[in-house]
Amino acid sequence: MAGTGVFSEILDGDAFKYYSNGEWKKSSSGKTVAIVNPTTRKTQYKVQACTQEEVNKVMELAKSAQKTWAKTPLWKRAELLHKAAAILKEHKAPIAECLIKEIAKPAKDSVTEVVRSGDLISYTAEEGVRILGEGKFLVSDSFPGNERTKYCLTSKIPLGVVLAIPPFNYPVNLAVSKIGPALIAGNSLVLKPPTQGAVSCLHMVHCFHLAGFPKGLISCVTGKGSEIGDFLTMHPGVNCISFTGGDTGISISKKAGMIPLQMELGGKDACIVLEDADLDLVAANIIKGGFSYSGQRCTAIKVVLVMESVADALVEKVKARVAKLRIGPPEDDCDITPVVTESSANFIEGLVMDAKDKGATFCQQYKREGNLIWPLLLDNVRPDMRIAWEEPFGPILPVIRINSVEEGIHHCNASNFGLQGCVFTKDINKAVLISDAMETGTVQINSAPARGPDHFPFQGLKDSGIGSQGITNSIDMMTKVKTTVINLPSPSYSMGSSGSSIRSRI
Ligand code: G3H
Repeated sequence: MAGTGVFSEILDGDAFKYYSNGEWKKSSSGKTVAIVNPTTRKTQYKVQACTQEEVNKVMELAKSAQKTWAKTPLWKRAELLHKAAAILKEHKAPIAECLIKEIAKPAKDSVTEVVRSGDLISYTAEEGVRILGEGKFLVSDSFPGNERTKYCLTSKIPLGVVLAIPPFNYPVNLAVSKIGPALIAGNSLVLKPPTQGAVSCLHMVHCFHLAGFPKGLISCVTGKGSEIGDFLTMHPGVNCISFTGGDTGISISKKAGMIPLQMELGGKDACIVLEDADLDLVAANIIKGGFSYSGQRCTAIKVVLVMESVADALVEKVKARVAKLRIGPPEDDCDITPVVTESSANFIEGLVMDAKDKGATFCQQYKREGNLIWPLLLDNVRPDMRIAWEEPFGPILPVIRINSVEEGIHHCNASNFGLQGCVFTKDINKAVLISDAMETGTVQINSAPARGPDHFPFQGLKDSGIGSQGITNSIDMMTKVKTTVINLPSPSYSMGSSGSSIRSRI
């Protein structure tokens, strides 16, 4: 159970503590923030409402701990990360339980998220040891006008304090995708979890605590965005922000100042279906891509663009599979579970009603109980409907019938988002041309969009984000290049010949 066993020290009465200076603490505010269970719609947990003074303290500690951490050998940093990964995986059950209660993630997916996170941390440790242990060696005579009098050595150095802000839908996995790269690269880390997902994050942070990371190196502050949100993102002690979430990221990027930013802000991933596609494969991927975790994934398929000649057949196949989805509580490992908040459910309903008013074809009856929304395929969606462009983050999937591939590409590229997309066809040559024409960070050929495996590069164009993620890219992003140039008194050329001629020159 949450907050018991090895996790008992993170709980005080009915409220979870925050993590600062290697200790679990109660906020001096004396206030807490309630976390509402999406299924019961009742308060499930409470977390500390941290103050700006507590954020200042965490920043001060992070700055000083980083100086020592940067001098810690790379292999030791990796060793601690491996230890944290093992502890996290060992405690997958109580952490998964938090995910079920806080964000209504289906039971099996909740366990998968924790295990995937442990694997991500271990891979990060290994990748860090490889790529941070290497640098470049350049010589000056490759640039016109230079003799070989300068040797340039490059290495990667940490940025300082990294602020990590993960979203509610993967509070553990998208937190460790920021924490792991930051730490292996020699940075310190301040984590601001999402409100829903905060308790899962606190449990995950405790696994790092148990692994024995130095005091102050990792901190986790919880609280209201209105009190500490801007204060954190505009804090002068922050040297890098890695954020995943909605369009709040756009305002963060405007206020953050001159520091590196890594942002993933959602998508409207298109699924383009050509006439020669394997429609059973497409239907299976639409179900997986559009409805897993009730569509609450940045990489979910959010619009199907299908050639008119195969649209009827595809819609029938998808309808048949939608009918088999299990709808209900996450504890029962249902496919479709309640969406994260009542306001999300209301927003989704608004999109559905707009489509209804404008004449979309409902393939199922619209049904909602509390935050639980039944899966819904909307056929014959037109560009004047909000659902054609907006991201529902729910189990609602629009189908737009197209008469040419160009029409599909045009719709995809007219979106303000550009995260991922997918194309289904048996013609690989066409697939490559379409992939090149789609203005998205990734295009999947004959499969639904997805971020993983976690070492693959992951990036969005346009409003979908800044920079590239994936383990290697995140490590790179959380470092700077440092160069040392050795200036020689006279040109020196490597002869590459026998020892005798080298001896004769000296
Ligand atoms: O929601 C955003 C995530 O980055 C999507 O990750 O493709 O593994 O579900 P996923």
